Amino acid sequence: MDRPPAASQATTAIAQQRYDRLTMALHWLTVLVVVTLWSLAQVWGLAPKGSAARHAMQALHVSFGLVLIAILTLRVLWRAGPGRRLPPADTGLLQMAAKAVHWGLYALLGVQAGLGVFGRWFSEDPLAFFGLFAIPSPFARDKALEDGLISIHDTIATIILIVAGLHAAAALWHHYVRRDGVLRRMLP
Ligand code: HEM
Ligand code: HEM
Repeated sequence: MDRPPAASQATTAIAQQRYDRLTMALHWLTVLVVVTLWSLAQVWGLAPKGSAARHAMQALHVSFGLVLIAILTLRVLWRAGPGRRLPPADTGLLQMAAKAVHWGLYALLGVQAGLGVFGRWFSEDPLAFFGLFAIPSPFARDKALEDGLISIHDTIATIILIVAGLHAAAALWHHYVRRDGVLRRMLP
């Protein structure tokens, strides 16, 4: 009997692999919260400066920002501990590129969270969670520093969107062109 070629054996092996439920949930929650955070910033950009609506959307952004920090912390702890890790889906240069993009996304999100938190702490507004509690600032107000940090935060938001877009395109390429089941690893 003919044995299937090595490439198709590898494809079948990938299609049978799945991340665990918590890894999947945390991945898709991250996507949802990042898109929400970015969309809020686009919408408040349309509201007049100093308006109550703009202020409310910024407070909502900060609250969802704290949600993102909690999700990321859990994701990193879970991945470092019992979370399932799968063998790379690519080989050679593509494998290195995928690794760089995945680690790059973790690093960008971490830096983005830090800039957001410190930006808020140097502002006159509280780092508050849906009006339930606020994490007090250890710093005095510094408008120039706040503006500087938020301007870098703004640039990194664009970089995250581009890198995540490339990452999503790679997943879709695996799905529709290579048909090797990599996208299904992240789907229940
Ligand atoms: C990937 C996640 C995030 C994205 C895409 C994002 C995006 C943005 C964008 C585009 C702005 C507008 C910048 C400007 O006005 O020049 C902004 C502002 C801001 N973000 Fe984020 N952000 C994210 C995460 C966070 C997190 C985790 C926090 C921290 C809690 C945070 C706190 C802030 C603050 C304090 C501002 C300034 C709001 C103001 O002007 O009062 N962001 N963000
Ligand atoms: C804000 C958007 C996104 C972020 C921040 C993000 C982040 C990540 C990260 C950090 C990983 C690496 C997991 C690990 O090994 O620890 C990953 C894996 C993955 N992501 Fe995303 N992702 C995003 C959007 C998407 C979208 C839209 C898709 C699908 C169209 C997708 C599909 C996948 C798949 C299939 C994997 C597993 C890849 C593999 O096992 O080789 N992601 N994502």
